[in-house]
This record gives sequence, C-alpha cells and structure tokens, in this order.
Amino acid sequence: MKETDQTYYISEIKKLKRKKNVVILAHYYQTGEIQDIADFTGDSLALSQQAAATNADTILFAGVRFMAETAKILSPQKKVLIPDMMAGCSLADSCNPEDFSKFIDDNPGRTVVTYVNTNIDIKALSDIVCTSSNAIQIIESLDSEEKIIFGPDRNLGNYLINKTGRDILVWNGACHVHEEFSLEAILRLKEEYPDAQVIVHPECESPVRMIADFIGSTSALLKFTRENKSSTFIVATEPGIIHQMKKADPSKKYIPAPPKDSTCGCSECNFMKLITIEKIYRCLMDEKPEIIINNDILVRARKPILRMMEISEKLGK
Ligand code: 13P
Ligand code: SF4
Repeated sequence: MKETDQTYYISEIKKLKRKKNVVILAHYYQTGEIQDIADFTGDSLALSQQAAATNADTILFAGVRFMAETAKILSPQKKVLIPDMMAGCSLADSCNPEDFSKFIDDNPGRTVVTYVNTNIDIKALSDIVCTSSNAIQIIESLDSEEKIIFGPDRNLGNYLINKTGRDILVWNGACHVHEEFSLEAILRLKEEYPDAQVIVHPECESPVRMIADFIGSTSALLKFTRENKSSTFIVATEPGIIHQMKKADPSKKYIPAPPKDSTCGCSECNFMKLITIEKIYRCLMDEKPEIIINNDILVRARKPILRMMEISEKLGK
C-alpha cells in the first residue's frame, strides 16, 4: 500500500469512529499502526474489561475472532465488528466441541476451566474461563479438593500444574506461534547478550519456559520490560508487543525470539496480521463484518466469563 493511502485511511478512521461513536480495541499483537489508532490496546483480559465497560454504540475489534466474540458476549446490546472474519486462532481451533464434550464426559466430577482462546461453543461447556494474566489466580480460587479439566492449551496447562500443584487434566491443544520458538536459537542469543532477560509467554513449550527469566501474559511481559533494570530482552511471544515495549522505553533493546524454522516468519500470528488499516477503514464504512451470536449459546458462554470477571475484579487483576 502507498504511504498516501495509509495516511488517508488513518485520517478517515479517526473521523468515522467519532461520527459513528465506535470504540476501537486492539490486541498487542496487531501492527504498530493499528495499535496507535486504537482507543485501547491491551491483553485479552484488559480488552474484555474494556468491552464490558465502554459507552460506545459499536466496538470494532482489531484482534482475532474469539476476542471479538468475548466482547459481544459481554456487551450483547452493542454492535461488535471485526475487520476480517477469517481472523481465527490455531489454539482455539485445536479444540472442537464434540471431542471436548466427550473429554468432559469421560472425566466426570472435574471443574472445567478454559482459556479465553476458545471458540464460543467451548466456553458454553465451561465452568469458568481464564486468561494468561489471571490463570493461576483462577485455579487457586477453586476449592483445594476440586479436580480440574483445563483446555485447550497444553503448555499453559502444564505451566499451571507446576505453579499450583493441582490435579489438572490438560487438553492437548497448542498455538502454532508459541510452539515455534527455537530453544537453541534463544540460547545462542543469550551467549551473544549474556545480560539479556529471556521473557516468555506461558503458551511456549516447557524447554523454552525453563530457561525464562520471566513468564507472563503480554501485559505482564510489557510491565516487566518497563520495570526491569536490564537493557536487553529476548522476547518469546508474538513480536507485535515489542511496539509497546519500545514506546515505553526506547533506550532498551528488544530482540524477538527466533522461530525453529528461520525461513517461515512464523513468530508472527498470521491470524492477527489479517487485520489491516485498510480493512479497519472498510469495516467502519460498511459496519460489517459483524459478530452475530445466537442468544442461547451467548447466555451459556457468558456465565463462565462473568465468573472470571468477578474473581479478577476481587483480586484486582
Ligand atoms: P494475552 O492474553 O497474554 O494477551 O494472550 C493472548 C494470546 O492470544 C496469546 O497468544
Ligand atoms: Fe491464537 Fe496463537 Fe495467534 Fe494467540 S498467537 S491469537 S493463541 S494463534
């Protein structure tokens, strides 16, 4: 796209969102330009909280479909737009409702905790939802005798077992981005930058988590780089977050952790990157694609999300 087109779209987006009373919510994995035109940028939990609290008539979600669905579930009376309906999530798609339902039936008596990175029908089968920023607290809020099913992310699930020591049966799903980081390449970088802090999202595989100096959600990683005294960070999550890290402290060096296959560019989430400035402009103009959810499933999926929101609020998370 020509520079002039980009500038035109950005100025039209600003006008349209004012005229139509639209709030733009963007996840940290969006491109820098998209994060900069958004009204709020954040991790999954913060964006859900914003979606529930906004006074705008319409929410435009610059993120992936499960995030926009969560916004609709929390604000059913509002119009929720997503600039590209194909913006899915490989982790959410690694858990289908038929098999997950069977998994629950085969393991009766367990509390079903699901990560927010799921399609709506999985949320409707859950007792409580969590995000990467409150997963430990959500598990710890459950009675110590309660046995748990956790899905869909096997890496976050194993991390939660290690952190909480709870009896958790984990669904075997994963994110294609976070499983692609190369332990060897990170160790080579660490040799080159011995003082660098290795910071890792909990969706990464266990060998990568084991060498981490810090593990956390996207907002926790951002906070860590702001507060930590080191001048260099090796960042093992989708590199979109580096935009905010640089904005917060441009004097520090942020190195994206390399993927196993250095030719594939797979440390970027191809779903997140389906959203573009041009698509946001067209979506605001046409007021579509719109997230439409059948009321019955919306009501069932809302309960476990609200339960998470209440606990998170109590914990100040
Ligand atoms: P956060 O909630 O940490 O932003 O994670 C969202 C996500 O999709 C991670 O891959
Ligand atoms: Fe889903 Fe992974 Fe993309 Fe996050 S990075 S939205 S978990 S595919």
